[in-house]
Amino acid sequence: MEFYLDTANLNAIDSALDLYPIAGVTTNPTILSKETMSDVFAHLKAIQKLLGPDRSLHVQTLSDTAEGIIAEAAVLRQHVGNTVYVKIPTTSEGLKAMKQLHKQGVRITATAITSKLQAYLAINAGADYVAPYVNRMENLDIDAMDVLSSIASYISNANSSTRIIAASFKNLAQINGAIDAGVHAVTIDPSFYTLACSSAHLQKTVDDFKADFEKAFGKDKTFLDL
Ligand code: G3P
Repeated sequence: MEFYLDTANLNAIDSALDLYPIAGVTTNPTILSKETMSDVFAHLKAIQKLLGPDRSLHVQTLSDTAEGIIAEAAVLRQHVGNTVYVKIPTTSEGLKAMKQLHKQGVRITATAITSKLQAYLAINAGADYVAPYVNRMENLDIDAMDVLSSIASYISNANSSTRIIAASFKNLAQINGAIDAGVHAVTIDPSFYTLACSSAHLQKTVDDFKADFEKAFGKDKTFLDL
């Protein structure tokens, strides 16, 4: 399982990389629009620098045509480096671009997936990752977990190397459900890592342990003092 950060906020990325076992960062145009920056490429390069060579950065194209997407992929690779995963919306033109970019050895994340067929086509077009949007499917009354498990079965049956990076989460239950459904990666807002690991309930549990230890061995004692 890979855990990604679905943000372009440099402070949030820096902090989360320090704390958690993070595989990389995913962005989209909306996520980029939330940050203050004068030069988008400089910002992306700053993210790449924080990530280092062993984590991946995924950046989404905006063009509606395959030709435009392919041209944007070249520009992204030129500015951010050849290791960047080009996120391509899984439209008809997007699939056309994926087929061509895959032949050129470009790393591809097929995004904005809300149906099984979109994912199957992206897998066959050569996507390295497929990104189903869990909360957006649930908003449409689509059984997102069924979609995820069908995509996982398709990949397994086809012996494909494509990985599922589930995205669009609005609560921890959706994240846990996606992992149970067999995805290979999840990309989530950093606040969910905090929510899972820094809740008031968890802090009380830790404080209770410390209080019991203090009663037996003295105030503020840790193993360093014994
Ligand atoms: O990575 C993009 C995906 O997370 C979209 O999320 O919250 O806009 O549905 P959202």
